[in-house]
Amino acid sequence: MLINDLIAVVGLDHCLTDPDLRAGYEVDWTGRYRGQTPAVVRPGSVEELSAVLALCHAAHQPVVVQGGNTGMVGGSVPLAKELLISVARLGNLQVVSPTKLRAGAGATLARVQDAALAAGASFGVDTAARDSATIGGMIATNAGGMNVVRFGPMGDQLLDAGVVLADGEYIPSLRDTRPDHRAFGLIDHLAGSEGVLAVVAHATLAIGTDPPQVAVAMIEVPAGRLQRLIQAVEELPSVYAIELFGAREVELTAAAIGRTAPLTGDWLVLVECRSAEDPAVSLGQVVGELPAVVATNQTAGGELWLFREALTEAVSRLGVPHKFDVRVPHDALNQLRPRVEAAAPGGTVFVWGHAFSNRYGHPTANLHVNVVGRVDDEGVFDVVEDLGGSIAAEHGIGTAKRHRATRARGDLVELREIKDRLDPAGILNPNVLFPV
Ligand code: MLT
Ligand code: ZN
Repeated sequence: MLINDLIAVVGLDHCLTDPDLRAGYEVDWTGRYRGQTPAVVRPGSVEELSAVLALCHAAHQPVVVQGGNTGMVGGSVPLAKELLISVARLGNLQVVSPTKLRAGAGATLARVQDAALAAGASFGVDTAARDSATIGGMIATNAGGMNVVRFGPMGDQLLDAGVVLADGEYIPSLRDTRPDHRAFGLIDHLAGSEGVLAVVAHATLAIGTDPPQVAVAMIEVPAGRLQRLIQAVEELPSVYAIELFGAREVELTAAAIGRTAPLTGDWLVLVECRSAEDPAVSLGQVVGELPAVVATNQTAGGELWLFREALTEAVSRLGVPHKFDVRVPHDALNQLRPRVEAAAPGGTVFVWGHAFSNRYGHPTANLHVNVVGRVDDEGVFDVVEDLGGSIAAEHGIGTAKRHRATRARGDLVELREIKDRLDPAGILNPNVLFPV
């Protein structure tokens, strides 16, 4: 029987069939997606991961892979009674060189950041979920995070990856695969593939050195100035982060962290700049006469960041939010909130996110629209598409948005071809990404 064979591989302590032990793995972080699994299997090595997948493949057993379970789109929850593979124990870390770090799929972002820091370096992706989010999951969703304007998303940090294919074949280096291997080219599609192509076992990630001087500013920006301000900040060579939120959001986090909101207004833009020489000078020129609070050291900057970073948890304390992780062009930013509010008369709407231009050919921002209370999800998706945006960004498609994936992802046909080659039986994360 499959469960007994799995126990023989990972040991009784790491094949959880007791409902109480499984429970935490069967519901997502937000509490919106709940499933059930026959067992939670926690391989402790790549060899065990490979053996587990080989057994599942032979038994035609669908699997869902879970890292830190911080996903927002139901992508790592066993919604159709799949077996759950937790990669949490694959957490090895090794700084290979001043520019390279190797991390097991289950290493948390915080551990990666600490390891980089101990070697005098830093890692380019950062999110508030750093203590739980794992490298494997962040690659699966191609997470962007708060420094995306500077470093790009997770895929941009991915130098190499070791993966296990659906049938258990372990590939230690995707970069080294030969053209005649079925996984040749997979490295270019791994980030954002949501666990449907292969299971990430470990990754080699780029690390670097941050310039020593920092400036963080929270700027109050009237709606009519927003686009110009973002554009001017993006042009600063020292820019590290451009985060957007509004008065409602800062009031919420201020209450959550027991502080007074430093500013209010249509938009609050939190900017971090880093450079060899004091970045506050050029940042100050961009801010001009706008009301702003500026911090010029790490500690004071961290105090300003609290008002942004506390948002996800503060919103979740109000109830299980409807989460819309969307991309909109800069010229639609001011319309998004009122249009969503009109589509959600029974809900309270919160909006925050990351501004960055780059790869989409036009200025764009990744906004997290959270609605607490009643809302018609499809109505919000319609608003976003009507504004020229995309209904999915750094959190992925998951289960939540697969019915609209065709428009949101331009690479689905290609991904399907790769999937058919690597996982023809379709056992890996069967309920995400591809439209039903
Ligand atoms: C964020 O940037 O805060 C995250 O992506 C999480 C969220 O949307 O709650
Ligand atoms: Zn985000």
